[in-house]
Amino acid sequence: MFSIVVIQQTVLAQEAWYKKAAIYQIYPRSFYDTNGDGIGDINGIIEKLDYIQSMGFQAIWISPFFSSPKKDFGYDISDYYNIAPEYGTMQDCERLISAAHKRNLKVIFDLVMNHTSDEHEWFKTSASSKENNKADWYVWKDGKGKNGKQKPNNWKAMIGGSGWHWHEGRKQFYWSSFLPFQPDLNYHNPEVKQAMLNVAKHWLQKGVDGFRLDIFNAIYEDESMKNNPFSFKIVPSESNPNGFFQKAKYNINHEKSFQFATEFRQVIDSFQNPERYLIGEVFGDNETLKKFCNYNGKGGLNTVFLFKTLTEKLKAKPYRKMVAELEKDFREPFTPVYVYSNHDRKRSISRLDGNIEKAKLLAMFQFTVRGIPYTYYGEEIGMTQSYIPLKQGLDPLAQRFKWMPQFLANMSSESINRDECRTPMQWTAETNAGFTNATPWLPVNINYTETNVKTTTENENSLLNFYKKALKIRNNTNAFQNGILEIDTEKSSKRIFAFYRLTDSEKYLIVLNMSKKHTSINHLKGKIILSTRNDINDITTKKMRPYEGRIVKISE
Ligand code: GLC
Repeated sequence: MFSIVVIQQTVLAQEAWYKKAAIYQIYPRSFYDTNGDGIGDINGIIEKLDYIQSMGFQAIWISPFFSSPKKDFGYDISDYYNIAPEYGTMQDCERLISAAHKRNLKVIFDLVMNHTSDEHEWFKTSASSKENNKADWYVWKDGKGKNGKQKPNNWKAMIGGSGWHWHEGRKQFYWSSFLPFQPDLNYHNPEVKQAMLNVAKHWLQKGVDGFRLDIFNAIYEDESMKNNPFSFKIVPSESNPNGFFQKAKYNINHEKSFQFATEFRQVIDSFQNPERYLIGEVFGDNETLKKFCNYNGKGGLNTVFLFKTLTEKLKAKPYRKMVAELEKDFREPFTPVYVYSNHDRKRSISRLDGNIEKAKLLAMFQFTVRGIPYTYYGEEIGMTQSYIPLKQGLDPLAQRFKWMPQFLANMSSESINRDECRTPMQWTAETNAGFTNATPWLPVNINYTETNVKTTTENENSLLNFYKKALKIRNNTNAFQNGILEIDTEKSSKRIFAFYRLTDSEKYLIVLNMSKKHTSINHLKGKIILSTRNDINDITTKKMRPYEGRIVKISE
């Protein structure tokens, strides 16, 4: 009766918590300020846990709040064991973990292990001489040429330009995969590996449920230090980290990084009840990404971000293709991750022309497909990208590119100034969107009077209320948590993407009209339990409205 592509067979029994979780990302600086300094803080997160829980999320991932000179707002850590004072104290942090757990929310910290800040004691010591007990904790290399001041090789940093930086004290270069003040640690040195795994263990002992691993694919560089080969590729992408005219052969996605993922997995697996979780920020094709999760038959990171979802065209065919690929490449026991925005990338709704119907459709897809959905704070209310000129950017990337004429920056599909996606959470229509009673560290988006949690909560048809409904169904339905996924090739068309979620006893059809046209579908034998157009009374009709999505419970 159903024309179905069977992609995988297993119906799973009890699964690890993370496989069923919907995860909410918090950028702490912009979430909620309780001490009136214009900067969000840990107590602010604690105050808003009820909000996060009431939407139906099961876990939070918090961007770093450890001691840091904040040149990259926390992604440059100077002490992994302490909290930056503007965010609170260690006691606040412990309270956060227990307050979250009380609400059945797991807590995922952000572990920046590829590099430290150049103000970390480790780096200061390492840089102080060529003979000290941390001399080779970072990636140091003599320069070339007569005066030794030519870069050791042609490697490029992830953001372009050479990643080698001259250090006058050591008269050597050090390597940075990202910005110059973020020197890469040298993981070929077992002491470094141990030091960082100790950091992880420390937080796991405090009850942290997992880590998001910052640029994990840059962890190892090849010891040969050979030049990277030429490539015609100019701009690195989600699926291909080559760029700036070279293959990132020797500095990205190194075999040892895959192997390290398996070692890290062993560490987290030694903590149980509950089991812990790792998600890697890595870039590459599916085959490479998979190696982070499984290397030579050994388990590695539990999941990796699959950033293709950030830029995929909202059209039926590409979506169907993407899901078919991910179901094939990340079939059980692997779990795909579906994410639309984060603190580095353009806010999702701004990619969707601000169209709330499209955002609801994407949410329906994200919460019904087999995989882990990640939601970036504010995404649930349709918070849009702000406009902050490059020259005014606090973001170090914006500062690096401030020479660029603004019109060129505006032409880029991604925002070069990451401040634009990091503006304060819009809680109410009151001053500063209810985020702070001081001057906020970044200006609040001007649309806060309409787009805020309070107003959208009161509007029955808002995106936020749709999130709640879709998450409720996801959380209460075995098929969405444990069921297999099958694409319905008969109902799928140029405009429609349709798939099932199935267990032995349940069958749900998800039909998504990924087009701007009204589109007829075959009679649906079942009950429509949710439509993205719940403002329309008659949702039994065969005609689906533009960008309408439906969840149908099939009864046979
Ligand atoms: C990651 C983070 C980004 C940070 C960079 C360097 O890509 O997401 O915010 O600037 O790594 O740590």
